[in-house]
Amino acid sequence: MSPAQIKNADRVRDLRAQIATANTQYYVLDAPTLSDAEYDRLFRELQTLETEHPELLTLDSPTQRVGGKVARGFVGVTHRLPMLSLANAFSEAEVLAFDRRVSEALAGTGWAGTEIEYACEPKFDGLAVSILYRHGLLAQGATRGDGETGEDVTENLRTIRTIPLRLALENPPAELEVRGEVLMLRHDFERINQEALARGEKTFVNPRNAAAGSLRQLDSRVTAARRLSFFAYGIGSVEGTVLAKTHAGQMAWLADLGFPIASQRRVVPGVRGLLDYFAWLGAQRDAMPYAIDGAVYKVNAIAAQTVLGFVARAPRFAIAHKYPAQEEMTLVEGIDIQVGRTGVLTPVARLKPVFVGGVTVTNATLHNADEVAKKDIRVGDTVMVRRAGDVIPEVAGVVLERRPMRDLLEPIFSAFVMPTECPVCGAPVLRIEGEAAARCSNGLACPAQRKQAIRHFAQRRAMDIEGLGDKLIDQLVDAGQIKTPADLYRLDVAILAGLDRMGEKSAENLMAAISASRGRPLSRFLFALGIRHVGEETAKALARHFGAMDTLLHASVEQISAVPDVGPVVAASIAAFCAEPHNRAVIEALRGVWSDGAPQAQSVGRGVGKTFVLTGTLPSLSREQAKALIEAAGGKVAGSVSKKTDFVVAGFDAGSKLAKAHELGRVILNEAEFTKMLEENP
Ligand code: IVH
Repeated sequence: MSPAQIKNADRVRDLRAQIATANTQYYVLDAPTLSDAEYDRLFRELQTLETEHPELLTLDSPTQRVGGKVARGFVGVTHRLPMLSLANAFSEAEVLAFDRRVSEALAGTGWAGTEIEYACEPKFDGLAVSILYRHGLLAQGATRGDGETGEDVTENLRTIRTIPLRLALENPPAELEVRGEVLMLRHDFERINQEALARGEKTFVNPRNAAAGSLRQLDSRVTAARRLSFFAYGIGSVEGTVLAKTHAGQMAWLADLGFPIASQRRVVPGVRGLLDYFAWLGAQRDAMPYAIDGAVYKVNAIAAQTVLGFVARAPRFAIAHKYPAQEEMTLVEGIDIQVGRTGVLTPVARLKPVFVGGVTVTNATLHNADEVAKKDIRVGDTVMVRRAGDVIPEVAGVVLERRPMRDLLEPIFSAFVMPTECPVCGAPVLRIEGEAAARCSNGLACPAQRKQAIRHFAQRRAMDIEGLGDKLIDQLVDAGQIKTPADLYRLDVAILAGLDRMGEKSAENLMAAISASRGRPLSRFLFALGIRHVGEETAKALARHFGAMDTLLHASVEQISAVPDVGPVVAASIAAFCAEPHNRAVIEALRGVWSDGAPQAQSVGRGVGKTFVLTGTLPSLSREQAKALIEAAGGKVAGSVSKKTDFVVAGFDAGSKLAKAHELGRVILNEAEFTKMLEENP
């Protein structure tokens, strides 16, 4: 064998071993060690190698069969018809290829030459089950198992309230096998995790694992308490009735019989219809009550399905079109502590870079010590990282099966402890009773807090000092040039030009930007001071009410409480800030930097300067209405999606623009989110 052949053979062996282990972990032990995306990648790599080098293909390759083994404890059930899996498509090109294969295979039949009609539905991210009804009564329920033989989970399935125990039919067929997916709704998942936490038990990393763990309980009372859900997606074996001639027709019949069916199912013409459906469903995804990981396309005519038949592992008439993974596993390389503006210490997981939800994630906030303890996250652990939609990435949980044995023994890997001294200034860390946060007790004497306070002061929404970036602030504070925001206005070109990577020209520009920030309105100045609990809105309300800084400085807590929307806690915080001698001195030193007066009513919102793309039919707004709303908010409407697009507003039948938006990771809004966004920021 040539070195290249040896390399391929080794890789194939390695891939098979990894996949076999992953299968056992997933199907038999309910303890996955690979994310779906990782598994798919390995599987595809193996498939590709075997296709390119047919001499390496063996009968025992995982590509030649469906699943794993039957676990002990449950009785085995041989499926009347095997429960197969679906081939996956990860790109438009693969969907086009699927449609082409279907069309070619149907050439010479009644379907030749026309657009194929497809039934589309969500790909539920749960577990496949088969439910057998004899003479209309639920007789047996089984998991998929290895596709040939599953486990008898009848008693557990009976606890799922949405599964009919009796079919709503006068003359039920002798046998009907309904297939579908057991899953856990997101809100039930949140609830059972809350309950587990309250009992001090381990939480589930995602709804899928929670559903798997709950369905395969030997005690069905446990399953009942978990509130699983079920959605039907097909019919297996049947005796004593004639079924509808299309998949959509069969689904409609199941719905009539009382089975829950995805409301997002549609029948579409041709491959264009598939891609439009994919984009449309993608826009619903995050708002759906349960997790989906793609769309499933099935040739609608059952007779055409029969012509197409099956390949080894999957039907030729159906395919799963996957969305980019929202969850990936990665390694915690470290846990850093960040000190915030108010001194709060936040543990942040430093992660081995991982591509998830359309971005590369390198760190994730762990919020506070309680959160780290609850999730038991340690350096060296493999964790599941989640990023859905536009939200901040989070560590969903530890994959305990991957915690290396030695890490349990070495002290460096022992449980995380919050430092008792500020990692930046060394001052004692205080933990206020009843509060999750630990704080550095050093206030503005702590360089970390000082830097954050200056950053906050200079940011765009506050005093808007252009060019005063994080690195410069770090240098200025570290060199002792700046202790308070007032020191900014005492800088000169000579000091600035002496800093790292600062030429005379940049120093002059920065001086100009600092000067330009003089005279900003009182509302911005109040926000810039960084008073606890005073955000932009409260700052505006204060400026509107008091009109001048001095009036506020002399106001009592009661007088401050009279400001609309300012409660007693906020009022007390403002009064305490104003009473503090150090703060008063800083404000004195800043005289002339702000200008008193009530804020101008401005129509500045999230729409300002943003580019929107409209696609598909919105439920209530016309194109013109949506466009008018955007323009009124100071945004503009573009015709196509690019990296410059800020928001894509997608309606029904949104097509390639939405697909493009997904590809480029743009923010996608439905009509409700869109109008809410513009309303919230008028
Ligand atoms: S049809 C012969 N439809 O995906 C094909 N499967 O990879 C039978 N799944 O084991 C599957 N949503 O657990 C079908 N709408 C859907 C589905 C779906 C999720 C799962 C199912 C199956 C796996 C196939």
